[in-house]
Amino acid sequence: MYTLRSSDPTLLSCRAMQPIQIDRAGEEDREWTAALLAGSEPWITLGVTIAMCRAACCNSEYLVYVARCEGKRCGAIVLHPRGLAGSPYIKSIALEEGFRGRGFGAQLMDFAEELFRSESRNIFLCVSSFNTRARAFYERRGYRAVGELADYLIEGASEIIMCKRLR
Ligand SMILES: CC(C)(COP(=O)(O)OP(=O)(O)OC[C@H]1O[C@@H](n2cnc3c(N)ncnc32)[C@H](O)[C@@H]1OP(=O)(O)O)[C@@H](O)C(=O)NCCC(=O)NCCS
Repeated sequence: MYTLRSSDPTLLSCRAMQPIQIDRAGEEDREWTAALLAGSEPWITLGVTIAMCRAACCNSEYLVYVARCEGKRCGAIVLHPRGLAGSPYIKSIALEEGFRGRGFGAQLMDFAEELFRSESRNIFLCVSSFNTRARAFYERRGYRAVGELADYLIEGASEIIMCKRLR
């Protein structure tokens, strides 16, 4: 099922006015994704370094997809097919700052959910307790908090485990 090839781009035109193109990441895309995450909140506050981002983004266990808007990379999503309790796990999602709030994150989430729908009933992710806008974004998409990892990455902040029923 993970056979999307970069030569076989999936063009998604969903709610946003502008469609984005989502492709399986190549080596350079994975490096770009690591830099995007390391340079963005919430990872800065969480103390997640570029080396840590590379360790995940360049690890073949993770599926990395990059979104392009008019040919320019604008965001990425990092997935593990069995990352939590044997179910798919959205490890990270980020849009470059200038591309946020245009529905592209929603398109990347739609893409990830569709990828796993036929084989899994549930999909999981974690959101930091201080990342209230991202949490609201997930809740609007049907994710519900199912657990909390207190003081998990840094003292005083939790990682909230969220789950969505796919079918
Ligand atoms: C969260 C994120 C992936 C959503 O993608 P997007 O393309 O901006 O989202 P959409 O346009 O589809 O939806 C907009 C919603 O995204 C969320 N959002 C927007 N900017 C955000 C930001 N800087 N940080 C967190 N969430 C944000 C809000 O819930 C927003 O709705 P609102 O405008 O009513 O507050 C994107 O904003 C982002 O990269 N944020 C920073 C990184 C991050 O927090 N990733 C999630 C880690 S768990």
